[in-house]
Amino acid sequence: MAGLDIELAGIKLKNPVMVASGTFGYGQEASSFVDLDRLGAIVTKTISLKPRQGNPPPRICETAAGMLNSIGLQNNGVEDFINNALPFLSKFKTSVIANIAGESGKEYAELAKILNQQPLVKGLEVNISCPNVSRGGMFFCFDPKATFELVKMIRKATSLPLIVKLSPNVTDIALIAKQAEDAGADAVSLINTLQGMAIDIEMRKSKLGLATGGLSGPAIKPVAVRMVWQVFKTVKIPVIGIGGIMTGADAIEFFLAGASAVQVGTANFVDTQAPLRIVEEINAYLARNKIGHYKELIGQAKI
Ligand code: SIN
Repeated sequence: MAGLDIELAGIKLKNPVMVASGTFGYGQEASSFVDLDRLGAIVTKTISLKPRQGNPPPRICETAAGMLNSIGLQNNGVEDFINNALPFLSKFKTSVIANIAGESGKEYAELAKILNQQPLVKGLEVNISCPNVSRGGMFFCFDPKATFELVKMIRKATSLPLIVKLSPNVTDIALIAKQAEDAGADAVSLINTLQGMAIDIEMRKSKLGLATGGLSGPAIKPVAVRMVWQVFKTVKIPVIGIGGIMTGADAIEFFLAGASAVQVGTANFVDTQAPLRIVEEINAYLARNKIGHYKELIGQAKI
């Protein structure tokens, strides 16, 4: 077996394949058919300070080679996460990364402070890229200065590793990544969804309750690979690749572009075994190419 372990931003992963936020809940439902102990890490659905109802339905629709979602960060709030999700997750040996979002810097910092007290939480993924909310979310990553100030504020509130999740809906994602790094981020993850829209031509109506949503799945993979490569060339902190990863070959492509690890998202809705299958497929590629450790691939794409 080739080496698959990595310590990323101070978080120990047994392999570089995590499940992406919002596609796996808090692991409870998936645990009846996925062996959570074989995942690299579980990135939770976004947690906010107080419960959030989310957006009006319909909140999901399929598109060619992808899907649109407009969930609106629905969740039960941090107290419920601590009282219900964490005790469940404590039964497993897989690192838990809590994805957090707020409507203000103060809310993000408060969440970071609260989760700092939870030994099971090994890191925070800071969601500054959700396209489906009217306050907070993506608005922090439109402006490099706002990104810097927000990450600095969260950095002061916690000693946990900080992974900042970036949006593709910006002109220069590398500039935003650099601001996150300068403000104290330990890693960046990218990309969140691309803003999109689909219309039912019989009803002459948007297929989503809130008109627009975030596009994910294989349709966005080339955009994600391009952005990972651009960010990898710009920052020194690790880059986590996300965007349409369905197979081990997709993951390898992200490693070659500069990703130190990957997150599998939309694939979970198509094939519950996707993350575990992807680990096996990475292994097979490494064996076939006589590569001792997958880290040898990171950033090795010849241009
Ligand atoms: C959502 O809850 O609307 C999706 C989460 C995200 O895009 O970050």
